[in-house]
Amino acid sequence: MNSDNDLQIAGDILEVPHLLQPPREHPATVAEFVGLARAIAADRAQWAHLVRYDATTRWYHRLRTGPGYEVWLLSWVPGQGSGRHDHGPSSGVLTVLEGTLTERTERGTRALAAGSQRVFAPGYVHEVVNDALEPAVSLHVYHPGLTEMPMHASPHCDARTAPGALTA
Ligand SMILES: [Fe+2]
Repeated sequence: MNSDNDLQIAGDILEVPHLLQPPREHPATVAEFVGLARAIAADRAQWAHLVRYDATTRWYHRLRTGPGYEVWLLSWVPGQGSGRHDHGPSSGVLTVLEGTLTERTERGTRALAAGSQRVFAPGYVHEVVNDALEPAVSLHVYHPGLTEMPMHASPHCDARTAPGALTA
C-alpha cells in the first residue's frame, strides 16, 4: 500500500450515495452519444417497426429528441443517396442499422456495414449512398439538432446536387 495516500473509503460505497455521480438522463459527451446510438441499434423494438422504404424520396423519421440533440431514423433503397453535404453547426454520429452504406469524402470511399459508426464534427463534408442491392437503415444523432444541411458541389460535377432530405 502506498503510505503517501491513506485515503480510503471504509464500508460500503452504496451506503453513501451522495458520493456517487447520478446516472445522466441524457448523453452529453461524444462517447455517450455513441453509446446512445449503439443502445438504440441493439434494441430493434425501438425502431424496426417504424422503418418505411420510399423509392421516390428519401424516408426519414425523428425517433427521439433531448436537450440539444435529435435522433433520426433513415432508410435508403438501392441507389438513393444524400448528395455531398455538411451539417452546419451540428456534430453527429452515423450508425448503420441494416444493410451497407457507402460514405464518400475527399479522403476516399468507405463501406459502412451494419454496426459501423462514424462520428463527425461540424464542417465535416461527406456523401452517403446506398450502392448495394439491398435496402439500408441508418440512425443519425445530431448535436445540436440539424438545422441546415448545406449541399456541396460534387468534385466530379459542376452542378449542385439537390438534397433529398434534411438528414444524412
Ligand atoms: Fe451527413
